[in-house]
Amino acid sequence: MAQRETWTTRAGFILAAVGSAVGLGNIWQFPFKTATNGGAAFVFVYLLAAVLIGLPTILGEFAIGRRAKLNAVEAFEQLNHPAWTVVGGLGLFTGLWILSYYSVVGGWVIRYTIGSLTGGYFADTATYFGAVSTGVEAIAFHALFMALTAGIVAFGVEDGIEKATKLMVPSVVLMLLGLGVYAFTLDGSGPAYGYYLSPDMGYLANNLGSVVPFAVSQAFFSLSLGMGAMITYASYIDKDESLPADGGLVVGLNTAIGVLAGLVVIPLLFVQFGQVPEGAAGGGPGALFVSVAQAFANLGMAGRVVGALFFFVVLIAALSSAISLLEVVTSYCVDKYGWNRKATAFGFGGALFLLGTLAAWDTAWLGWFDTLAYSVLLPASVLLGVIFVGWVYGPEAIDEVQQGSNADAMYARLWVWWLRTVVFVGVFVTLYLGVTSIYASPGLPFL
Ligand code: PFF
Repeated sequence: MAQRETWTTRAGFILAAVGSAVGLGNIWQFPFKTATNGGAAFVFVYLLAAVLIGLPTILGEFAIGRRAKLNAVEAFEQLNHPAWTVVGGLGLFTGLWILSYYSVVGGWVIRYTIGSLTGGYFADTATYFGAVSTGVEAIAFHALFMALTAGIVAFGVEDGIEKATKLMVPSVVLMLLGLGVYAFTLDGSGPAYGYYLSPDMGYLANNLGSVVPFAVSQAFFSLSLGMGAMITYASYIDKDESLPADGGLVVGLNTAIGVLAGLVVIPLLFVQFGQVPEGAAGGGPGALFVSVAQAFANLGMAGRVVGALFFFVVLIAALSSAISLLEVVTSYCVDKYGWNRKATAFGFGGALFLLGTLAAWDTAWLGWFDTLAYSVLLPASVLLGVIFVGWVYGPEAIDEVQQGSNADAMYARLWVWWLRTVVFVGVFVTLYLGVTSIYASPGLPFL
């Protein structure tokens, strides 16, 4: 077998991990999930979830990946726990499921990059979103996004993934900062900040059962957890790197970028609608595409350039996340069966394209794909991983996180204890509430 690639630099890994984490989950999903789940109350729970649950979990995935030096599925065999391969398998499935509809939204972003240049959506952003987000056009751009993803994965870690993500993170931050400042200066954005930043504890108390699972799953989605992505990426890290430091950096940057995206989208929604509007095109999946697009439209000619730049950067963020999902299954098939990397990447890309056409055809399907991922697949997959690290792999995990860091053994033990208690309970409750809510109303588009 060819020698396994490693990241050329530490920054290479961090950027790739951040590249996987920062994507549509932060820029598209986080603002609209905030808008539909009570504003600041959701942000508050999300921040807690990212730090108290996300960070310890990402560390677990890093510890598995780096020690095994293998793809997310075989890693468990390599660590002498073959029965737990099921964790990797579920992660792989969850990742593929998510990629199928992620690519549809990625397609919208391509469409909006072009629409900015031509001014296509300038006349009426809501109508435009309705026209391009479903049907044949959405399917065509979904195909294009998936083809780009497969193309990058086909070239392998160093040539494709690392290079593609180097410029992305700084550009995302700069663009969002610029837009955030711009939104702040607009008339009507004022009330948005209270809505977004000052939690309504009464709302939280009354809606705890829905806000908590959404926020926890959002943290998983946003940090690329429970999908084998972080296990796979960590398998390329050197032993002399500090996993806790890397994990902290990834969680910190990722969370900050999500919060920043909210500071752009929510004020722009208020400027345009005076509130967070109901419905798919308003406060729902269309929030980014309608409200931010409207801000570009208001800028006239300059809006074309700024808009195209913005959506292009979002596109890079989406691609660097999508490639990490496809990389999980590709590295598995290449490692295990010696399959050809290019054929594997394009083969799975093609199959997922077909699955995703449902979501591209109708946003009701897209919502359903997303709900299933959020309510069941993500928490189930993370929960199994947490049980594995907490109870099965504990002593080795403790040893692994200490390598390359100066962490005291006591902190490492505390971390495993935390996984067994707070994290376990938090994820279990999230899964329970998710499953019961789906059971109560399956929400299938054809029912
Ligand atoms: N974390 C990415 C985002 O927030 O857009 C989405 C994602 C990428 C999820 C890779 C999972 C994953 F494995």
